[in-house]
This record gives sequence, structure tokens and C-alpha cells, in this order.
Amino acid sequence: KKRVLSGVQPTGVLHLGNYLGAIRQWVANQESYDNFFCVVDSHAITQPHDPKELSQATYRTAALYLAAGIDPKRSNIFVQSHVSAHSELMHSPPGRRAARLLAPLHRWMLNCATPMGWLEKMIQYKEKSQRAANAKSVSVGLFDYPVLMAADILLYQAQLVPVGDDQRQHLELTRDIARRFNDKYAKKKKRKVFVEPEALIVKSNARVMSLQDGTAKMSKSDANDLSRINLLDSPDEIRRKIKKCKTDSIKGIGYSPDRPEANNLLGIYEAMTGKSKEEVEAEAATWVGWGTFKPLLADALIAHLEPLQARYAELVAEPEYLASVLREGAEAADETASRTLADAKRAMGFTLPG
Ligand code: TYM
Repeated sequence: KKRVLSGVQPTGVLHLGNYLGAIRQWVANQESYDNFFCVVDSHAITQPHDPKELSQATYRTAALYLAAGIDPKRSNIFVQSHVSAHSELMHSPPGRRAARLLAPLHRWMLNCATPMGWLEKMIQYKEKSQRAANAKSVSVGLFDYPVLMAADILLYQAQLVPVGDDQRQHLELTRDIARRFNDKYAKKKKRKVFVEPEALIVKSNARVMSLQDGTAKMSKSDANDLSRINLLDSPDEIRRKIKKCKTDSIKGIGYSPDRPEANNLLGIYEAMTGKSKEEVEAEAATWVGWGTFKPLLADALIAHLEPLQARYAELVAEPEYLASVLREGAEAADETASRTLADAKRAMGFTLPG
């Protein structure tokens, strides 16, 4: 089976974009692959954050993976920071302990194998650093973020990385880093140190747009909560957000290149009802206007999210179960990661402790 790795940052509550762009396809394909799904908490500190909220959001995100249908029997679910700084460090056999201690070194090795010029081209870094109140206060971590992401993927030898469209450039960079490392340090070896991963991007809804602006991505960092549907929003909140969402004043409702809001909402409706584009198109022809469509869309969202929210409520009531899933996930992740680390270290010419 091919190896899959993906992750979401634990900031706020996951939204419909995270779900449709990423998590739904993890669930749909989990039988076909050998899966690692990570809560990428280390990525969440690259921008100003609240420590208490980070730890809560980490568990919330893991619980949402399970509530959305990730099955711990088929997939390893773990927290990124649990693998390099494990609390059971002292109980590990010496080889694995050494490898664990090397996890930060692994990122250091990748940093030293990555030209600054590549990172300067990253669109997300440019956007996020431009938005920061003070350009000089932008952290080195934000600049280095894509290398940490590459480390996640390469450490687990992932062949496939299911993500939304906004991560396409980071995946290209990951491939470039892997190729450069292999070329420099593993040319004569029979086996490459790193696998060059491929992005798996869904055809529709790979970029879910803001409810307040059909040309901007739905995002956790948008200050206006009306811009997104969070997976834990109540039915009333969903109705209110859909009622207030931006539309256009063109007669009738249908897909069209110059109707970004209509395209986005119809795409969401397709996903929530399981109907094809053609079916939705035919249905839309019977709608008088937004006043007909909006309640249908709100109902479809509420109905689709209801079972997920019910499972989430059950999981929150059982914190020990969630902790055990994350412990087992971290052990499996550590096993694979340790092997790649040792390989990468040898390739670069480091000596391993005896
Ligand atoms: P993050 O936390 O911003 O988003 C998690 C996943 O959701 C997708 N996504 C969207 N898809 C469609 N429409 C949207 N509006 C939308 N917003 C977000 C993202 O593409 C992503 O798949 N750097 C990553 C996290 C990460 C990662 C990794 C991913 C760290 N290490 C290793 C894969 C493999 C990020 O910030 O995602």
C-alpha cells in the first residue's frame, strides 16, 4: 500500500475548507493507503499564539479527525510534537532514543540543504508576513515553515499527500528538497534517502472560498467569523452565516466564470448533498433566486455536519480514549521516522552514537 501523510494546524476550529479540501479525502481513501494523519502543532507556533488555546486546539483537532471518520484501526493519528520530544524518551532502546533526539537535527539538516531563495518565493510566507503588524517581528519560524512541512512528509516516506489547493507550492518545494538531498548525499546509494511525494488534490472544492468574498480563500485567520463555516457551528449559526453570506445581483442562480460567490456556494451544496454538478445545475434552474437557495444550502450543511458533531460530543466525553489513540499513533510514527532519520544522518556523513 502507498503511504499517505497529511496534517492540519490546530488553530481555532477546523472549517469547511479544511474538511472538503483535505479531511474528507483522507477518510474516503483510508482503506486504500497506509495512513499517517498528524496534528501539526509545531506549525501553529510560527505566528503569535495563545499557549492554553494551542493545547486545547490540539485535542480538538485530533477529536475532529476521528469525528469526521478517520478510523484509528486503519490510520495512525498523532501529534507532531509528540514524536520528536517524547515523554517516554528514557524508556526507549538506545538506538531509537538517539534517533528521537535527532529529530530537531533532521530539520536542521534539511534547513542546510535548502536554499533561502526557494523559501523567499513561497506565496503563503509572503502573504502572512505582509499581514503582520510589524514586518521585523515576523519569526524565523514563519520563514522556515515550509521546511518543517517538508520534514513531516519526508520523515515518513510519504508517497501521497492529500491537501487543498493552497498547499500545492509547499508540495513542489518538498519535492525539490527531496531531490536535492538525494542528489547531493545519496547519489551512489541503491536506495534514495527520501521519497519525492505527490500532492493529491480533489477536483472540486480544492479551494473553498470565504462566505464574505468569493475571491478570497476560506481561512482560519480571517478575523470575521461570518466568512467561514466551522465544523462545530450550531444549526442557528450556520443559518445566520448563510443568510448573511455575500451573493450577487445577477438574475437566477447558476455556475459562471464571473460569479465567484455562486460557484462557491453551489460547490459546497454539491459536496453536502452528494449531488453531481449536473444535478445541481438542473435543480438551480428551478430556483427563483438566493431566497430559495440559501435555506436549502443551510439545511444541507446542518444535516451533513450533524453526525460529525454528535460523534465529536461523544469523543470529548472520553479523553482517555483520545489520549490512547494519540499514544499509539505517536509510537507508530516514531518507528518510521527513526529509520529515515538514521538514514539521512548517515548519508550526510554524521556518525551515530555507539
Ligand atoms: P492548514 O492547517 O492551513 O490547512 C489544513 C488543510 O486544509 C486545506 N485547506 C483548504 N482546502 C480547501 N479550501 C480551503 N479554503 C482551505 N483551507 C485550508 C489545506 O490545503 C490543508 O490541506 N502547512 C499545512 C499543514 C501541514 C501539512 C504538513 C500538510 C504541515 N505539515 C504535511 C500536509 C503534510 C497547513 O497549514 O494547512
